[in-house]
Amino acid sequence: MPGSFYITTPIFYVNDVPHIGHAYTEVAADVLARWHRQSGDDTWLLTGTDEHGQKIERTAAANGVTPKEWADRLVESAWKPVLETLDIANDDFIRTTDTRHESAVAKFLQQLYDEGHIYEGEYEGYYCVGCEEYKQLDDLDLPEEGEFAGQYVCKIHSRPVEILKEKNYFFRMSDFEQALLDLYESQPDFVQPDSVRNEIIQFVKQGLEDLSISRSSFDWGIKVPWDETHVVYVWFDALLNYITATGWGEDAENFRRRWPATHLVGKDIARFHAVIWPAMLMAAGLPVPKQVFGHGWLLVGGEKMSKSKLTGIAPAQITDVFGSDAFRYYFLSAITFGQDGSFSWEDLSARYTAELANGFGNLGSRVVAMIEKYRGGVVPTAERDAEIVELERAVTDAADAAIGKLAIHDALAEVAKLVDALNGYVTDQAPWVLAKDPAQAERLDQVLATLHHGVGTLAVLYSPVMPKATAKLWAALGESGDLADQRVNRAWDRPVGGTVSALEPLFPRIELAADEQAAPAS
Ligand code: MSP
Repeated sequence: MPGSFYITTPIFYVNDVPHIGHAYTEVAADVLARWHRQSGDDTWLLTGTDEHGQKIERTAAANGVTPKEWADRLVESAWKPVLETLDIANDDFIRTTDTRHESAVAKFLQQLYDEGHIYEGEYEGYYCVGCEEYKQLDDLDLPEEGEFAGQYVCKIHSRPVEILKEKNYFFRMSDFEQALLDLYESQPDFVQPDSVRNEIIQFVKQGLEDLSISRSSFDWGIKVPWDETHVVYVWFDALLNYITATGWGEDAENFRRRWPATHLVGKDIARFHAVIWPAMLMAAGLPVPKQVFGHGWLLVGGEKMSKSKLTGIAPAQITDVFGSDAFRYYFLSAITFGQDGSFSWEDLSARYTAELANGFGNLGSRVVAMIEKYRGGVVPTAERDAEIVELERAVTDAADAAIGKLAIHDALAEVAKLVDALNGYVTDQAPWVLAKDPAQAERLDQVLATLHHGVGTLAVLYSPVMPKATAKLWAALGESGDLADQRVNRAWDRPVGGTVSALEPLFPRIELAADEQAAPAS
């Protein structure tokens, strides 16, 4: 039954340009959104940028511009264009400097203050500007040698932390410790996968401290409404984007229509989303998110890929060679969603050739070519072979169920079963042999009808992942209606027929340049 589906990506810091780690979340969210949209759900995909805080302020200063000028520049030159590069069909793009966001954040904060959830206090601790977070000693390394020997460094950024002592406003997060534990217990799906869920439960069980939610040592942020000498802590500000973008505080009807959301985040920021965020919502008397899913890291050379460690790869480096469809397919099929995955050009190239060029692409081209050659392009409306008819249905159901669990890799593995089965069917039935025997004309009709319909079902099932290639295939198959209007959760449910037309190779062969094979992490 159609329902409502609101999915978000993290909003990205604009201190730097996007790399494939950021692109990974975008693509996963977009595939889920397209799948739900094509299942008839009232779907909304939100992404955007996180523009306040010390990290952005410092980057802007280092570049001799104001933080807002810097943010504008990066949003227009890098963060919005990457959505085009990756073929993301987002419904909204929120910037934390948008007036709609800033005014709603102030309103939310004032409400919590008025209701006694916020108090004034003092805090001293280790602060990582890269993470924009106070750190506990557990989160830090103390290297004995190297550039930072003898200094506490952040485990994520490998850079020294700073000691901050400030008079701040605090959110009484500790009040929500038990309610959070109850939430994890009563809704086991609230945080996923289980590895992340266990870590979160462990963390909360150790005891929650109140959270410092304002800063007075710099001023690039949203002003605290009752004390303009403070700005709102960047994470407190950023998390609220998920409700300010849907009209919380402004448009109650739209907010009710969209909220609650499924949040896709990297596992390194799951704590903010699964602990701080639901506590904030509980304090405001609002429903908690539907789910927080912490995906794994893309590793390059065994390490988390990142710009700060110079292992960053820009998405366009890949899409310029392989195209956006292959990018989307590769990262979502080669990596179990929820686990870390290593990226290499060799693996990408090998899978592109085997699974897309030789597997799916070639199947589409052969089927179109055979219908052209043996039936003048007209698809026979014959009865189809039961085995493939059944498989189309089974694969559709299994893929849809996997998407429901955010197991995108499993969904793609299901669809691949149909590709393999159809390729096997071509070999077994050998239409070119049937075509030579006029007594087999009816059988050839059945085989061609079965193949045509099966490939059409593949086009529908793959359309949320590879919108461009499947649109070309759909047109060449001569199927009726827009591909985007096909119900992906009933991909098998279409009449047989149509007139095919020429199809260029969907995934042309690619020769990798020597430097791309040798130096994956430039
Ligand atoms: N601005 C915050 C998020 C606020 S959401 C209310 C932030 N931004 S970020 O730009 O630093 O990172 C955004 C996301 O990119 C995180 O989910 C992080 O896990 C992800 N990734 C960064 N490097 C990554 C990989 N190497 N692999 C996969 N994801 C990675 O945090």
